[in-house]
Amino acid sequence: MKLFLLGFMGAGKSYWGKQLAAHWDLPYFDLDEVIVEREGMPVADIFNTKGEDYFRKREAAVLRELAAENDRFLISCGGGTPCFSDTMDFMNANGVTVWLNPSIPLMVERLQRKQYKRPLIQDLGTEELTAFTEKKLAERQPFYEQSQVIISDDEITLETFEKLIRHA
Ligand code: S3P
Repeated sequence: MKLFLLGFMGAGKSYWGKQLAAHWDLPYFDLDEVIVEREGMPVADIFNTKGEDYFRKREAAVLRELAAENDRFLISCGGGTPCFSDTMDFMNANGVTVWLNPSIPLMVERLQRKQYKRPLIQDLGTEELTAFTEKKLAERQPFYEQSQVIISDDEITLETFEKLIRHA
């Protein structure tokens, strides 16, 4: 199985990525974490010192490397991964793409817990964060909605994935 988990920040990609990889016994990669390891600094520092463009190039390249090096995998992408270069097409051609798309209030609530780690939203209050999420999500939707599997519920379980991802 080759699975790419996509979705906005706070959609639950890392949480469900770990659960599903354990459940299906798949090698698991959190794309942000692999980049952080290889660059030797947190994502926020990469943005601040090397710039967002550099980060976007790294995420496109590292994703392709992980897919080339592994026969089976589950990769939890960063929120912006599918929206730059031709990464969405690449993922659709090389595995199953799954878009986690919970409600905006749920994502905002989760984002407030680990906001410091995310350079795009570091200084935003609740209202600003909600407005930012609505706007950015609308911009990114055309990419996310090219996913082969779309999960838009707030309440999901392993069975939700079992039912939707069978022959991957
Ligand atoms: C980003 C999402 C982050 C991380 C970076 C940029 C984005 O990943 O890649 O801060 O553009 O949405 P998470 O979705 O895991 O927070």
